[in-house]
Amino acid sequence: MADIQWDKIGFDAYRTKTLVLARWKDGKWSEIKEDDSFSFTLDPFTCVFHYAMSCFEGLKAFTQKDGRVVIFRPLENAHRMQRTARFLGLPAPDDDMFVEMCERCVRANREFLPPYGHDASLYIRPLLLGAQPKMQLTPPDEVIFAVMCAPAGSYYGAFLKSFAAVIPLNYDRAAPKGSGSYKVGANYASTFRPYQIAHNQGYMELLYLNSKTHGFIDEFGSSNFFGIKGNSYVTPLSDSVLPSITNKSLQELAADLGMKVEKRPVPVEELAEFEEVGACGTAVVITPISHIDVKEELEEDSVSRTYRYFPDGQVGPVCTRLYKALTAIQKGEAEDIHNWCHGIEL
Ligand code: PLP
Ligand code: COI
Repeated sequence: MADIQWDKIGFDAYRTKTLVLARWKDGKWSEIKEDDSFSFTLDPFTCVFHYAMSCFEGLKAFTQKDGRVVIFRPLENAHRMQRTARFLGLPAPDDDMFVEMCERCVRANREFLPPYGHDASLYIRPLLLGAQPKMQLTPPDEVIFAVMCAPAGSYYGAFLKSFAAVIPLNYDRAAPKGSGSYKVGANYASTFRPYQIAHNQGYMELLYLNSKTHGFIDEFGSSNFFGIKGNSYVTPLSDSVLPSITNKSLQELAADLGMKVEKRPVPVEELAEFEEVGACGTAVVITPISHIDVKEELEEDSVSRTYRYFPDGQVGPVCTRLYKALTAIQKGEAEDIHNWCHGIEL
């Protein structure tokens, strides 16, 4: 097993051992290869570099209490990648190929899989990219599907701790009828600079509004939004939000816990009515939000409104309950009544 301090590891491009790879050419997929050089070479004209022809997925593998190794809901990620690939005009791996390559990636990199007893996991990152050198704006005939992984701890540096977020009114994430609901790399490129500015000001997250109306909440740059109001779990219904598998799971867990689940447009002013607000996603799991500042101009000091939930670091009871319910299933400490954990043989 790799010499890793599992309780200290963050969330980064940790170099493991083996990359699992297949190439699409002449209308079919190549054999699946495991590559310990952990690299591929591309022509500088390759369309992924110039035209951002890429999409990706993120999912996690866990060692459970009884020693079983599982991947959390991989078919959901396979389906989302197929949907995104259709949007980009790329061929996508089918369910079997997607799951098999994720399994092989975990198996080949098993020494980086955290043992039971830590909050860490093995984060799996499937990547689909246009691999043909071309200048024309038409889908490539050559594609690479690569699955890599990295041992991962908490995305923000601590689990179950609240952080501040900002609504940057002078930035939009995704255009109406654009790419917001797809996991394309380009959606993330436009968040790097505002993230840098926000981080320098002490905010961990960017909360984007729907860019058509600017009156409704869409999602965080890295994750979906939910708010807790009384016994309700409220999450935005919007066609420019990524359909989060974590959020979908939390909606089911909230219902299991007897909560009302409301998936509907969420007006910005409703932020004043929530008792708790959280970010949810594979990387961030559930990250509670301490307060949200609204800024007309992210670069300026002035804040037009603040919505407060908890002092920085503190966490509400519902976020805590949902976090525990989700992670207990992932770690095999609670019964997997929805059949979310896909067991694999190492
Ligand atoms: N929204 C965005 C923009 C994301 O990048 C992610 C991460 O994958 C999510 C939401 C959460 O999706 P999931 O729970 O499937 O990881
Ligand atoms: C994930 O949660 O899997 C993501 O892809 C989000 C990313 C910002 C790390």
